[in-house]
Amino acid sequence: MINGQKILITRKYPAAGMDLLKKEPFQLTFWEKERPMTPDELAAQAKDHHALVCTLTDRIDQPFLDRCSHLEIISQFAVGYDNIDIPEATRKGVPVGYTPDAMSEATADIAFGLMIAVARKFFFLHKTILTGEWGYFNPTGRLGFELKDKTLGILGLGRIGVKMAERCKSAYGMTIIYHNRNRNLSAEKPLDARWVSFDQLLEQSDILSVHCSLTPETRHIFDARAFKKMKSSAVFINTARGPIHHESDLIQALNQKQIWGAGLDVTDPEPMARDNPLLSMENVCVLPHVGSGTMEARDQMSVLAARNIIEFYKTGRVPHIVNPEVLA
Ligand code: GLV
Repeated sequence: MINGQKILITRKYPAAGMDLLKKEPFQLTFWEKERPMTPDELAAQAKDHHALVCTLTDRIDQPFLDRCSHLEIISQFAVGYDNIDIPEATRKGVPVGYTPDAMSEATADIAFGLMIAVARKFFFLHKTILTGEWGYFNPTGRLGFELKDKTLGILGLGRIGVKMAERCKSAYGMTIIYHNRNRNLSAEKPLDARWVSFDQLLEQSDILSVHCSLTPETRHIFDARAFKKMKSSAVFINTARGPIHHESDLIQALNQKQIWGAGLDVTDPEPMARDNPLLSMENVCVLPHVGSGTMEARDQMSVLAARNIIEFYKTGRVPHIVNPEVLA
């Protein structure tokens, strides 16, 4: 039952969802400052609340959960939740909601866009205009490559990976291969996608696009060994989480031409430093973690994050929950 529970909302989320919370008899606290809370501020504020709406840069780790084990629900505004110590939240009996699917189209667009941008050196060529190096029409200079009939390799063929594969198949007739811990049988047929081992994915992909979660198993899975196995003509795309690739190994692989290029919407750390060598490479395009950055996706994420809290207090159920065992 909703009865004046105090909800801490860690930043300005879209009104589409926050208005739903405002319609209910909650007491809402919005963090209004133009910067995120420090871990100390977050814990100090959360101590006085029943529930939390947070997002990917709010650290919900063991020290936080030790201080705030009284929280009745944590509602994460994101599909990824590697900022939250889920085993610890589960041990403490705190349900964690999240917002799957809301950003699948938007994030797949960013992966698809980065793929073309890298293949045709968009960001580098744009910079040549700004620096006065447009020059003359050079039939052999700064050439990219075409994507038609290439092989797309997906690590993590889930909701977002499927959308990326659909785009690549219909636009360029690409062959789809993928690696998941468990095969995604329902996606294989429509995409004509083939499960391969991780090493085969590295060896066979022309474009290798990462769509898995960040877990202890996937942290730095793209390291020097992995990049060495990839084709020298391959493009690496990461729109999932920065620590899935090992950044200095990626820089080395690009410098040594072990792979052709990279498109990143995620980096480690975020924000990336302005003088990061990746930013001046011809075949690299970097975006500042904007995969879900459309009005449609962010509105929907806000609605799902709000509904997770409202339904929890009305029915005891959380529609999109990471740790359902807590409510079982
Ligand atoms: C964005 O990175 C998300 O996990 O939703």
